[in-house]
Amino acid sequence: MPAPRCDETAAWTALSRHFEDSGRSLDLRQAFASEPHRFERFCIEAPEVFADLSKNRWSEATRALLLTLAQECQLAERRDAMLRGEPINTSEGRAVLHTALRAPQGAGPHSDTVHDMLDRFLAYAEQVRDTASSGFTDVVNIGIGGSDLGPQMAVPALDAWCHPGLRLHFVSNVDGHDITPVLRRLDPARTLFIVASKTFTTQETMANAQVARAWFLAQGGTDLGRHFVGVTTNLDAAAEFGIHRTFGFWDWVGGRFSLWSAIGLPIAIAIGAENFRALLAGAHAMDRHFAEAPLAQNLPVQLGLLDVWYRNFLGFSSRSVAPYHQGLRRLPAYLQQLEMESNGKQVDALGRPLTVATSPVVWGEPGTNGQHAYFQMLHQGTDVVPVEFIAVKRPTHEHTDLHTKLLANCLAQSQALMLGKTAAQAATERAPTASPDLDPQVLAQQRSFPGNRPSTTLLLDELTPRALGALIALYEHRVFTSGALWGVNSFDQWGVELGKALCNQLLPRLASGDVQGLDGSTAGLLQRLRD
Ligand code: F6P
Repeated sequence: MPAPRCDETAAWTALSRHFEDSGRSLDLRQAFASEPHRFERFCIEAPEVFADLSKNRWSEATRALLLTLAQECQLAERRDAMLRGEPINTSEGRAVLHTALRAPQGAGPHSDTVHDMLDRFLAYAEQVRDTASSGFTDVVNIGIGGSDLGPQMAVPALDAWCHPGLRLHFVSNVDGHDITPVLRRLDPARTLFIVASKTFTTQETMANAQVARAWFLAQGGTDLGRHFVGVTTNLDAAAEFGIHRTFGFWDWVGGRFSLWSAIGLPIAIAIGAENFRALLAGAHAMDRHFAEAPLAQNLPVQLGLLDVWYRNFLGFSSRSVAPYHQGLRRLPAYLQQLEMESNGKQVDALGRPLTVATSPVVWGEPGTNGQHAYFQMLHQGTDVVPVEFIAVKRPTHEHTDLHTKLLANCLAQSQALMLGKTAAQAATERAPTASPDLDPQVLAQQRSFPGNRPSTTLLLDELTPRALGALIALYEHRVFTSGALWGVNSFDQWGVELGKALCNQLLPRLASGDVQGLDGSTAGLLQRLRD
């Protein structure tokens, strides 16, 4: 018997009633005024991550009902099935075992295979890092999606741990404007190319790898075997391409969950084997928390439940991620794939149409940059967008005055979103830049803020490899939680197929100009591009 879907449970009916009775109208300002211990009650301490969930539009009653929902949907049983290696990716008949990649030796499924490969690619990373003997100064990762976004996010995040003599570059797009400026700055004799692709068939990656190989040879590069390595589950295809040094992984590692495998090679080259192991250890600590903490104190579970509450009851269709750490500038892009490719589905795992909304749009920019761009809309726009602030207590630089300002900004934004400002308050203030001709009442309305806008704040002590590992694993398990309640298969991505197939059909038409049978718009655009 498959586990029930959220909308098929008694808890869902109870939540709908609760939403109508009090959930819809909950006001955070009143909640804090009437609950002196709201902060403590809604905080969770997980490995490496402290979370303040108190500025969210839910009550103890909401949380209790959401917990019942999790139980009725057999969340714990589903989680355990994933961790045991059952083939929960049913549409592809595969297990989902990225957690095995960070389990200590002997502690997870496939342990020997995982640790043999880990030792092998970390030993290779150390060879590359020994720049006096390797001669490398530049490493180019060619990959896209899960074979790009993890390393591209983690390397700048861990800048303070990165090898000072190695530059890491990331080429993903089939747009030649991506690879061209990268190649222009490289010396073939000192460059290592990593061709990273789970399937080794992805159009963008294969095309860029061919451009890189042709460039390398045209520049007089010799010893292709030393300068090109592959990371893939398709070792035969890599060999056919002419790459003989390969690091493998397995079909039970989804692309968007693969940074812990050899796909993390650029990270390992940047930060070294010991720090890469710390990244894995942090993720493993979060895995244990997810597996063992009671659901009421289980941070990924609580975040996933909140996501369902917001999406399906309060109707919030997006969530903004605001990392107050410049090193995390690629985190929103990474999370877009993790969350939207996993849960952007409209049928459940049994193929039945869903009656509830699924993945929100995830988007964001680092703070404080976002404040000077789109935060206007977050504070005064007509849509409510929950914001997730990520703050780091200790910086890895010495400019403590900058860091204090950064943290004050972070706290101020969540405070402003929640508190808002009435028109009456605004009317008492001076607004030096306002036109003196404007009616003060009109100005007061324009300068008022509705408030009651929700946010979560995640705090890390320091953005170490271990903390980053825990943070990313937290997001993975949160996505699992909301996906399990919605009843979707969070581990396939059929939605990317149609565009790929149509692209393959259009490629020869762009060359030939044949528009027969095409819809009017595509035909018109194609012709215009050829004119
Ligand atoms: O097209 C989507 C996708 O399959 C992602 O799921 C994956 O991360 C990406 O393409 C890259 O795939 P590959 O690693 O096989 O090149």
